[in-house]
Amino acid sequence: MTDKPSVDKSPENVAGMFADIAPRYDFMNRFLSGFVDVYWRKYTAKRVPIPQGGTYLDVCTGTADLLIEYYRRYKDKPSAYVGCDFCQPMLDIGEKKIQKKIPQPAVPVTLQFGDACALPFEDNSFDTITVAFGLRNTTDMTKAIEEMHRVCKPGGTMGILEFSMPTGFFFKRLYLFYFRYILPILGKILARNRYKAYNYLPQSVETFPYGQELADALAQCGWQNVTFAPLTFGIATLYIGKKEQN
Ligand SMILES: C[S@@+](CC[C@H](N)C(=O)[O-])C[C@H]1O[C@@H](n2cnc3c(N)ncnc32)[C@H](O)[C@@H]1O
Repeated sequence: MTDKPSVDKSPENVAGMFADIAPRYDFMNRFLSGFVDVYWRKYTAKRVPIPQGGTYLDVCTGTADLLIEYYRRYKDKPSAYVGCDFCQPMLDIGEKKIQKKIPQPAVPVTLQFGDACALPFEDNSFDTITVAFGLRNTTDMTKAIEEMHRVCKPGGTMGILEFSMPTGFFFKRLYLFYFRYILPILGKILARNRYKAYNYLPQSVETFPYGQELADALAQCGWQNVTFAPLTFGIATLYIGKKEQN
């Protein structure tokens, strides 16, 4: 048995790492995933809808890709779109993309600085809440899940898109080889970052719960009817839960 590597998830390290790679973040996502990440976000927006007139929050929004995908799909059907992240350089890029891709939004589309473990929103504020590839990076996963539950309206829905481990014997070995040995080299060459973000990525994924284990953690934090669906041979998984009606 091998010890799992310890991963530094202090806010300084995580925010510093994403600040460092922010200008290349979108390119790296498309390049390293072969554009599959685009499909995962589309799938999430389809499976975790916003009700008519509802409010939407994307936690750990980064460069706002998921939020923009939601706007593309639902446009003026909801009453507000909000993205939240604690890395200002990621938000700055997200803001520029929003201005370019949604120059005249029909409803407010805003980005707000804030920590997922202490969300800067009132209780029961949002009908639909998502987080894509962010939960794994938080210092305290349970606190972040509880915070999403706190700011979700009764009867509201949350969706978590996160990396997971493929289960098929051969594919898992092939994937782990790419993930552990190829990806860090590509990341070092292409993203040129000080924080070794692409060494952190496989380490953080391999030490993070997935599948039934994460679904159980969501249920323990109060989410109901939790379901999960592995995507693309289990490389990523979409978790969906409901907040109980009052
Ligand atoms: C891998 S990126 C994902 C960005 C975006 N959701 C996407 O799908 O591309 C992770 C993001 O989570 C943010 N993040 C990590 N921990 C956070 C926390 N505790 N509070 C707020 N944002 C956090 C990082 O700053 C970064 O922008």
